[in-house]
Amino acid sequence: MSLIDQIDKAKVPEHVAIIMDGNGRWAQQRGNQRIFGHRNGVKAVRAATEAAGELGVKYLTLYAFSTENWSRPKSEVDALMSLLVDTINSEMETLLKNDIRILTIGDIGMLPSDVQLKLSEVIKQTSHCKTLTAILALSYGSRLEITEAIKKLIAEHQNGKLSLDQITPELFSSYLYTAGIPDPALLIRTSGEIRLSNFLLWQLAYTELYFTPVLWPDFTKEEFYKAVIEYQKRERRFGKTSQQL
Ligand code: FPP
Repeated sequence: MSLIDQIDKAKVPEHVAIIMDGNGRWAQQRGNQRIFGHRNGVKAVRAATEAAGELGVKYLTLYAFSTENWSRPKSEVDALMSLLVDTINSEMETLLKNDIRILTIGDIGMLPSDVQLKLSEVIKQTSHCKTLTAILALSYGSRLEITEAIKKLIAEHQNGKLSLDQITPELFSSYLYTAGIPDPALLIRTSGEIRLSNFLLWQLAYTELYFTPVLWPDFTKEEFYKAVIEYQKRERRFGKTSQQL
């Protein structure tokens, strides 16, 4: 039986988040510059997006650039920013054809102005698309996101707009970049690293975690299916007992 046939279409995770790791190692293994790995990583972005769309996943969040990634060599940061703009340019038609909406999360104001402009353009042009929402985490850091949310809450409390007993976990979620987006049901991290690296710390509270040694440029649709198959074997109890489910 092929991998896709092993997936129960009625139990597909609504939101899949991915830490796309291992581009640099993939390139180095081939005696190439790290950017060669990032360029090949774009193929894997396409594969994951296609697989998500076919299965009926509604939200796909991709960790493309973290707040910590700003400390990489300038040449790598610049190359990643150009790659992002080039990819948006080359994929715009495909996004529209496949009804994929683009959103971003992160400290977008930190990105170079041409990247910000390109992002605003793709967000606007795809705003009517409904099949899949692809969320690019760019200059994203969960601790920064949480800190910014707390600052907004305190300011509103001090202005008398918000009382302390109005502050609930649900309200707090609505102050994050991910407001209105359901929490990920499944997190995938490639390249064998087993950590969260400041990604969606609040939102991943009850997410199923899937780690694979596959390096991101080698991630194919089949690898995505394998993660979903593994997810479907898990029992999501949310603190309850098996008998209560
Ligand atoms: C992690 O691998 C990958 C990144 C920091 C960048 C991810 C970017 C892309 C896949 C391309 C552009 C993205 C989009 C959405 C078009 P690493 O460099 O940390 O690899 P290493 O751990 O082996 O060094």
